[in-house]
Amino acid sequence: MPVGRGHVKTDGWHGQRVLVTGASSGIGAATAVAFAAAGATVGICARRADRLAGVREECRARGAECHLWAVDLSRLDEIADFGRTALADLGGIDVLVNNAGVPKRRTIATMAPSDVEDVMAINYFSPVRLTLAVLPYMVAEKHGHIVNVSSMGVHSAAYRVGAYAASKAALELFTEALHLELAGSGVRTHLFIPGSTRSEFSTPRAGNDPPFPQDPASLAAPDDVANALLGCLGTDRFATFATARDEAVATRKNADVNAFVAALAARFAPSSP
Ligand SMILES: NC(=O)c1ccc[n+]([C@@H]2O[C@H](COP(=O)([O-])OP(=O)(O)OC[C@H]3O[C@@H](n4cnc5c(N)ncnc54)[C@H](OP(=O)(O)O)[C@@H]3O)[C@@H](O)[C@H]2O)c1
Repeated sequence: MPVGRGHVKTDGWHGQRVLVTGASSGIGAATAVAFAAAGATVGICARRADRLAGVREECRARGAECHLWAVDLSRLDEIADFGRTALADLGGIDVLVNNAGVPKRRTIATMAPSDVEDVMAINYFSPVRLTLAVLPYMVAEKHGHIVNVSSMGVHSAAYRVGAYAASKAALELFTEALHLELAGSGVRTHLFIPGSTRSEFSTPRAGNDPPFPQDPASLAAPDDVANALLGCLGTDRFATFATARDEAVATRKNADVNAFVAALAARFAPSSP
């Protein structure tokens, strides 16, 4: 599914080296191209080399240098080596965007333990490992940004996406701890929270229930989400929602979690006979 471009802002990242995971499609691809258009040198990774090559062409068409690595981030033992390779090939990393992620649409009662463990590997353990691989460099440089991509699944309803939402909740608290521990160090940590976005995320896939029906008009465009992601780097905010609508939902949940969850439970409960 090609991602339309054309709304990308073009300022501010000349000479910066950016590594984006999960950049073969969707939000990651749009983010890589947005950084390329803004003057950055971009490193992209995911499993599908052919799709990465297409994104690399889009980056090069914007005048950017682009490196790609076909890697499977579920191979956790290989991530430290990959981090070293990316640091060497890019000549350093100024921005790490931990974006790669997989869904898990399945009720908890029908899950196998491996369903939970597989989604935790990609969505939580892999960004943790890559962060730990790159962090010593950034700390020594007293400079850098780490952006961890979470999900509105944490801030709206975890209904039928429990393992997925839990993996992102873990990532959120890891990111919060990092943000606090690195305060004043020159290394800035950002939590970026998209809601429903037009991408391959919600397509049918093995091990998942069918995608939830969604009004296409309600989905955010990957380019807009990418621009919001780049925008958060210029702020001192810990958490940035991709859209104001998402932030409003999260604010409602935080204001009264019991009322919020009770309303959802009433909505999802089977109707009485
Ligand atoms: N779309 C939404 O509605 C939505 C909402 C909230 C949050 N998010 C989050 O946004 C991020 C990007 O999702 P998206 O919407 O852009 O979906 P997407 O189009 O499916 O992109 C997911 C990316 O992750 C990569 N990936 C998955 N498993 C991988 C693995 N084992 N190793 C390396 N890369 C892997 C995929 O590449 P390969 O398949 O080529 O490996 C792809 O590039 C995810 O973290 C997701 O949780 C999305």
